Amino acid sequence: MKGILLAGGRGTRLYPATIALCKQLLPVYDKPMIYYPLSVLMQAGIRDILIISTPEDISRFERLFGDGEQLGLHFEYAVQPKPQGLAQAFLVGADFVGNEPVALILGDNLFYGNQFPMILQEGAALTEGGLIFGYQVKDPQRYGVVHFDAQMRVLGIEEKPRHPKSSYAVPGLYFYGPDVVQIAGSLKPSGRGELEITDVNRVYFEQGRLHVRLLGRGHAWLDTGTFDALHQAASFVQAIQERQGIKIACIEEIAYQMGYIDHQQLFKLADRYAQNEYGEYLKKIENITARRLK
Ligand code: TTP
Repeated sequence: MKGILLAGGRGTRLYPATIALCKQLLPVYDKPMIYYPLSVLMQAGIRDILIISTPEDISRFERLFGDGEQLGLHFEYAVQPKPQGLAQAFLVGADFVGNEPVALILGDNLFYGNQFPMILQEGAALTEGGLIFGYQVKDPQRYGVVHFDAQMRVLGIEEKPRHPKSSYAVPGLYFYGPDVVQIAGSLKPSGRGELEITDVNRVYFEQGRLHVRLLGRGHAWLDTGTFDALHQAASFVQAIQERQGIKIACIEEIAYQMGYIDHQQLFKLADRYAQNEYGEYLKKIENITARRLK
């Protein structure tokens, strides 16, 4: 399976912080925001990744990650000239996707939870149809919302409904078969002029090919699009890391644990950070992993 990391957009809710820099490069506590969704793709076992961003920002991501080889990954880059909707990612990335299933993750979404890597690996095994998630939130009207009948069978899905029929928002992580490119190509822009991912999901739903998996209260899904959300995400990461002494979304650690890089390469990456806390952490990873496996 291939992976698309969508990291463009306007970011106007974070102005002035995002006037000169896209939000996915802002830090969430101790690492760039994009590390969090990237770590999700990596844990799903996805190594072939297209990063899509704005014409101004794409070179910054290239500077950050290069071709990805240092992490045992393969990165490609593409520009979305204007933020015309999440589903446009499949048109920008059509050649990259080719004939393979693909996961799309939004560059400002943070996931954390017990069993999450297992759920991700199930998602990455998908070969056809669509798999999305449902997560209970207080303010569903800000998101795509999926609603169910009494047996929890999906009844429909709506984009930012004024009167949501459920409190289950659809997080920014989606798995699709290769026909998603053609489905995205058949969409008309919505009232706000965007190719909506909710419309992609609706096509799969109407064809009886959409699976929705609920993420329960043991999962954290945070987005980081507003100052409060950004601050809360940073506090969340800080609190867990400080308590457990284990980092969330440390991509070098994940690359090592997934077997994408060896011990020597991990040390080489650690040297890049010299004496700082992040580098020290990388150097201790082998011990941490051994302790966790005991
Ligand atoms: P949004 O929350 O829809 O938009 P935004 O956060 O960029 O803009 P604003 O603060 O002005 O509301 O985007 C969700 C994520 O998807 C975010 O990471 C930006 C990204 N995105 C794109 O890369 N391209 C797009 O066309 C859109 C709509 C979003």
